[in-house]
Amino acid sequence: MKPFDFLVLGSGIAGLTFALKVAPRGRVAIVTKKDRAESNTNYAQGGIASVTSREDSFESHVRDTLTAGAGLCKENVVRTIVEEGPARIAELIELGMKFSEREIPAAPGAHELDLGKEGGHSKRRILHAKDVTGREIERALLDAIARQPNIEIFENHLAIDLITSQKLGYVGENRCLGAYVFDKKANRVWTFAAPVTVLATGGCGKVYLYTTNPDIATGDGVAMAFRAGASIANMEFVQFHPTCLYHPKAKSFLISEAVRGEGGILKTLEGREFMDAVHPLKSLAPRDIVARAIDSEMKKSGADCVHLDITHQPAKFIIERFPNIYQTCLRYGIDITREPIPVVPAAHYQCGGVVTNVDGGTDIAGLFAVGEVACTGLHGANRLASNSLLEALVCAHRAAEKILAAPLPKSDFKIPVWQSGQATNADELVVVAHNWDEIRRLMWDYVGIVRTNKRLQRAQSRLANLQAEIHEYYWNFIVTADLLELRNIATVAELIVQCALMRPESRGLNYNLDFPNPNPDWAQRDSVVRRGN
Ligand code: FAD
Ligand code: SIN
Repeated sequence: MKPFDFLVLGSGIAGLTFALKVAPRGRVAIVTKKDRAESNTNYAQGGIASVTSREDSFESHVRDTLTAGAGLCKENVVRTIVEEGPARIAELIELGMKFSEREIPAAPGAHELDLGKEGGHSKRRILHAKDVTGREIERALLDAIARQPNIEIFENHLAIDLITSQKLGYVGENRCLGAYVFDKKANRVWTFAAPVTVLATGGCGKVYLYTTNPDIATGDGVAMAFRAGASIANMEFVQFHPTCLYHPKAKSFLISEAVRGEGGILKTLEGREFMDAVHPLKSLAPRDIVARAIDSEMKKSGADCVHLDITHQPAKFIIERFPNIYQTCLRYGIDITREPIPVVPAAHYQCGGVVTNVDGGTDIAGLFAVGEVACTGLHGANRLASNSLLEALVCAHRAAEKILAAPLPKSDFKIPVWQSGQATNADELVVVAHNWDEIRRLMWDYVGIVRTNKRLQRAQSRLANLQAEIHEYYWNFIVTADLLELRNIATVAELIVQCALMRPESRGLNYNLDFPNPNPDWAQRDSVVRRGN
């Protein structure tokens, strides 16, 4: 048994921020399934949206967020997160984060934050560290964590399931008591016990065949919370980023929306600017609209990709502003200063998740969820670009404040050690690998950017068969990381399909040809699922 005051699952921006804030009050365990920096956060390119310029206003950021969210955002949550953003950004800078700056034109020699622009934003308000913002955030937070003796990081530890009082057979309120965690190197399962557990496990891009997300993004937090009895909402709103690099050798490499913010134009392979006819903001329209337009162009023409062209900007500017994108494309033989970039949409962000309030509180006592794993109501039916890092910062801070405002609960629950199946099976690896591929392809083909009820129903019945097979493996054989993640992607895939089938309308990221318009009865209605309903 490993007892702590705070158990944090995940070491992206949400988990690290929370850990730093509560460390003065107790011992913190950060459990993370690969290296400490490996997270969606680490790959964030565009930056963090926040109002820091005199030409901008909270009202404008709120309005842009509500517009992108297509009627489903919770306005009070949007206001809180937008208005608390600047204070959290100042703390991050204080901690050592280095955002890009530019010389103030009217005051040579003086500098100010350089603000980028992305789809759906009516102002320049994205703080960034060139095009490697996430890497710089992880560096700054991990450096600060290294100075904090109360925090212990457990790398290569994969949380399997939450331990709750109800699962242990206690009556009364359902309380989270910690988690069972698979130590991948030692090949054993530990019991982590804590009065406060925080899910900061990020998103679920790996549920789809093509994604911008790294391998860690298997929706573990949502799956664990669902199994523990928490409410999950709005999982149908999977955001597809319009511009992932299309190259046979490139795995999941994003071409930031900031490239379009600096003038990049989407074109067909023949050079036609197809966004002009789709939306007044053209290539910088909200992501759902751009991704659908690209999907439609590719289907119409039979092309495998479209082009993103920024060659009209000076080469020096492109190389200085986007050094990582420039170098990476060059490694694949594409000089973005001279030729257009082949791009396709790919699964990018989970707008739904574990239902929380703006302080990260879930409907299970002692369990909090922050960052991409949570559904606070900020994003509604479509997230505004660069609002997720902001949400993670603000909500991790608020969760810490809320928790520290009261004494930590004492617990006298008896937690049993983990029991697992004992058998190994030579057949297992190939079946697990096959099921991984099948789910990801099925989700891409049947539950992608454009949906129909028939395809959703097909996906649902195939997923049910796969779940039965995975269930048998899970209970009978010794666990492996691949099996645990497979079990989670299967659950998350089912939740996405279930939520999509609940919503008889097209809204934001959920586009269903059987219901091509928004349904006023579903405005402001979340699709909520709980185990057993
Ligand atoms: P993550 O950063 O994903 O961290 C999750 C952590 O949980 C990881 O450490 C992971 O290993 C761990 N974990 C997961 N499951 C388990 C488990 N079972 N056991 C133990 N540990 C586990 N958003 C913006 O706002 N601006 C951007 O510019 C931007 N660019 C992006 C670019 C890319 C390529 C991607 C993929 C996303 C981008 N996003 C951006 C989205 C944003 O990066 C994420 O939403 C955000 O970083 C999520 O932070 P998080 O802390 O919630 O989760
Ligand atoms: C990007 O840089 O395009 C990603 C921004 C985001 O997902 O918010």
